[in-house]
This record gives sequence, C-alpha cells and structure tokens, in this order.
Amino acid sequence: MQNEQASRTALLIAASLVLLHHDPKYSALVSKTSADLCAQILETYSPQTRLTLKIVRQDWFRPIAKLIERITIPGILLHYALRKKCIAGLVRSAIINGATQVVIIGAGFDPLSFELHQDFPRVQLWEIDHPATQRHKMRGLGGVDAERLHFIAADLNAPAFGREALIESSFDPSQRTVWIAEGLLMYLREGLVSSLTRTLSGLSAPGSQFTFTFMEKQDNNGIRFDSQSRFVDWWLRRRREPFRWGSTRSDLVGFVRPWRVIRFFDHNDLCEQSGLADRSVAKGEVICLAEFSPA
Ligand SMILES: C[S@@+](CC[C@H](N)C(=O)[O-])C[C@H]1O[C@@H](n2cnc3c(N)ncnc32)[C@H](O)[C@@H]1O
Repeated sequence: MQNEQASRTALLIAASLVLLHHDPKYSALVSKTSADLCAQILETYSPQTRLTLKIVRQDWFRPIAKLIERITIPGILLHYALRKKCIAGLVRSAIINGATQVVIIGAGFDPLSFELHQDFPRVQLWEIDHPATQRHKMRGLGGVDAERLHFIAADLNAPAFGREALIESSFDPSQRTVWIAEGLLMYLREGLVSSLTRTLSGLSAPGSQFTFTFMEKQDNNGIRFDSQSRFVDWWLRRRREPFRWGSTRSDLVGFVRPWRVIRFFDHNDLCEQSGLADRSVAKGEVICLAEFSPA
C-alpha cells in the first residue's frame, strides 16, 4: 500500500462493478445501489478515475475490457462480482440468524456496508481500512447518511489494528459479530494474518463468523490466480500491492483456530450458486466461512 494514494486494486474493483452493471449480460449481478456508490467514488477520486468512469459506461468499451481481461486475468471481472454476491449472502443470513454487528476489514470501496445499513436498521456496522483508502471513500460518499456506520482508519501493519478505536465506537465483544476480510489477507504477511485472526477471536462472542478470502497456494507454492499473467505480477509489485500470503485449504483449518472452518467456496461453487456454470471465472482466490467456537 502506498501511503497517500488509495488502493489501486480497490479502485479497479469499483470500476469493474460499474462495468458489469452496464453490461446487459451481467447487470443483475451488481445492484444499482452498488454501481452508483462505486461510480460516486470514481467521480470524485481523480480526473483519471472520472474519465475511467465515463469509459466503462460505454457500450463500445465492453469488447476492449474483455480483451484487457484476457491478457491480464481471464475471468477476473466475474470473480469480483460473484465473490461479492456470495459474501453478501453469507452476511445477510448471519444477520437473519442473530448477528448484530458487522465489521468489514480492508473495506476498500465496497458498497456492502451501505447496503446492509439500509436493509438492517438494527445492525451496527464498522469499516476498518488503511487511512489512504478510507479518506477517499469518506470524501466520495460524503452525502450518505451513515448513522450506525463507523469508520476506523488503521494500518493493519501497526500493532492492534484499531482494536481500541472499535471498542471506543461502541463495539460490544459480547454481541455476535460478522467479520469480513474480502480481498485483503493476501496483501499481508503470514504473521500479521495470524495475529489478526487471534485478535478477532479475542473480540468475538461464540457463534460469531469470520468470512474471508485467501489465495489458494499453487503446487509450486505460487500465490496468484491460475490464469494471472506476468504483467499483473509486475503491476501489483509496482503498485506495492503484491500478494504476500496464501495457504492450502488443509493448512488453513489449523491456521485459523479457534475459528472453525465451516465451508470453502471456490470458482466452481461461485458459478454454480449463480447459475453461470458455463462461464469462466478466475480460479485461485477462495472464500472461507468460519465460526468462532472456543474450546
Ligand atoms: C483489493 S482491495 C479490496 C477491497 C474490498 N474488500 C473489496 O473486496 O472490494 C484491498 C483493501 O485492503 C486494504 N489494505 C491493504 N493493506 C492494508 C493495510 N496494511 N492496512 C489496512 N488496510 C489495508 C486496502 O486499503 C484496500 O481497501
């Protein structure tokens, strides 16, 4: 992460969601609210993102986007949309089953907290993110009424990652919580992922859930999407957002304890869930749903 600039990958995801929403084939995968919130961020972030926003809304850009996708990470656009849809579904069912707090770590420009805020008037929500990214989100969404939605700016590389700030903003560790870390942990070092996992368990009531994504380690220990080109490796390094941590599913089960892994969702599950079994979705990042069940 660069210190002043917002996460480039978070901006890229925001642009991807707007693009998909304007594609008649996929528009149902991204709600209008999500696309509008992402558009608001791109509109205000910089002259370049404002221009990007104009371009991704044009019909003529769709084939170009497909070409760019083919030479970078084939299937990544659908992956973003389906990953978000799956995680949103898991959080919503956790809330329906009694969770009263949702904390999104490394939220980027994800509109999820705003949608949950609208739909679940009794739930408290927090977003924790790097100050450089969060500053731009708050500026971009200045007009949104964010009662019950708390923003904590914290660099996860610093000790305690905003634990005190959470408690000070009325977070209650005795309540059932849903923690989300989507598209985040791969950017952190293994020791940090491990200590974050422990910190979350120390703040969680039994039955709390932790939904996160991780890069599934390849046979040669590579940490990347299966179809990812060398250009993308270079781009992530250049942007100082290289993938640093990955795991196998079997190692993860022990690594996240006392969180108990309930289920993994990979590219096949995401396609199946959405009735898109014939489409190609990028393979490599897996969603893990875990529950806090202390011994
Ligand atoms: C790829 S974006 C994902 C954003 C969002 N979760 C999504 O899926 O749309 C990665 C996010 O992690 C955050 N992040 C990366 N390193 C961080 C750090 N050291 N401390 C806090 N946040 C960090 C970035 O600011 C960014 O919002």
